[in-house]
Amino acid sequence: IDIKTLRGATGGVITIDPGYKNTGSCQSAITFLNGEEGILRYRGYSIEDLAEKADFLEVAYLLIFGELPNKEQLEKFHNDIREKAIVDEDIKKIIEAFPKNAHPMGVLSSLTSALVAFNPSSVNVDSEEEMYRAIVKILGKFPVLVAWAMRKKQGLPLNYGSKKLGYVENVMKMMFEQPNEEYEINPIIKDALDKLLILHADHEQNCSTSTVRIVGSSHAGLFASLSAGISALWGPLHGGANQAVLEMLEAIKEDGGDTKKYMAKAKDKNDPFRLMGFGHRVYKNFDPRAKIIKVAADEVLADLGIDDPILEIAKGLEQEALNDEYFVKRKLYPNVDFYSGIIYRAMGIPVEMFTVMFALGRLPGWIAQWKEMRLRKEPIGRPRQIYTGENLREFKKISKR
Ligand code: ACO
Repeated sequence: IDIKTLRGATGGVITIDPGYKNTGSCQSAITFLNGEEGILRYRGYSIEDLAEKADFLEVAYLLIFGELPNKEQLEKFHNDIREKAIVDEDIKKIIEAFPKNAHPMGVLSSLTSALVAFNPSSVNVDSEEEMYRAIVKILGKFPVLVAWAMRKKQGLPLNYGSKKLGYVENVMKMMFEQPNEEYEINPIIKDALDKLLILHADHEQNCSTSTVRIVGSSHAGLFASLSAGISALWGPLHGGANQAVLEMLEAIKEDGGDTKKYMAKAKDKNDPFRLMGFGHRVYKNFDPRAKIIKVAADEVLADLGIDDPILEIAKGLEQEALNDEYFVKRKLYPNVDFYSGIIYRAMGIPVEMFTVMFALGRLPGWIAQWKEMRLRKEPIGRPRQIYTGENLREFKKISKR
């Protein structure tokens, strides 16, 4: 579609569509989503195949460059990322200045923005080569920030990864390594983390991705656009839902495990409570990611020998919702975040870090969408409005009001 022709044809007509429920913001060749049938594909590959057979870095390459990498391409990509996997030492001073109880999403968003100050050449990028340099930089530095946001919270010394490790193993080392201990990669945790990151890697024009694209459309630069995306992801109606789900499941457990009471609250229109982890703007059928994560949660807990009563509460809620007219009528099914927190908890990740883990997974998707937007030379994002305020009024001095 030629956007200019379309604009000309619609003249001055403005459509109002709060929440953009039926408004497309772009054309994209990255992620295919059919919400009615519960289908999700990255660049044409089914999410089920990718979650089972690929690793996170391959998926990142696929999303960003459009094709699965061969061995040499993947090695070069990984080496270029490894070269950039350190941050300026002064970033540590910024981290030290945050209060200990600062939410790690706030820390991550601020630090991602702060990276701009230390990497000014990453801002004005127009050519594919300049984009590539900014992309490998952020893919290298972001896991350091993720790990440090967690270590700050836990009072652990800030560390670095190892050039010998795979991308996901390296993230694990930076996050979980304890002082004076050789960190050993647990393959069960590594596989589960790979899967979770792949499942979160892109989801077309969701709230945070649209934010990244719209901020990037002003040519603000990749890191600043990502920082805005992180803030958008933080909210409990979006990525913050994984933290909210676990807090909700904990509260139900503390309250005696009465899932029916909470189902009734969720259906009561006078009660602001919502069943967190249920419902999705686009999926009106099972979220295919939730199906995979549910199985993974069972496997990880069994493999690690963890008996978590929270998993039973989650399964109970799901069963009740599947048989409840309110939820069936509104097509409210568990979404990607319903079971992910249970796995993160089993891995020993604190609950406030769950949305940070989502951001780590979504990073390649945000990058791919930003790159596509810039390469397609999309115009600055600037929605219109219908003004509903006062007509022209006469100004009165403060003494006369
Ligand atoms: N619990 C109870 N009722 C719900 C829920 C829920 N979780 N979700 C939607 N509903 C109801 C609404 O009250 C509304 O009912 P009505 O028709 O009687 O007014 C109807 O279902 C439609 O809901 P909307 O809010 O209009 O749907 P929308 O597409 O705007 O919102 C959203 C989608 C934000 C995901 C919503 O379902 C929600 O708040 N879910 C809980 C939070 C959550 O899990 N977010 C994560 C989403 S996935 C992600 O971002 C990675």
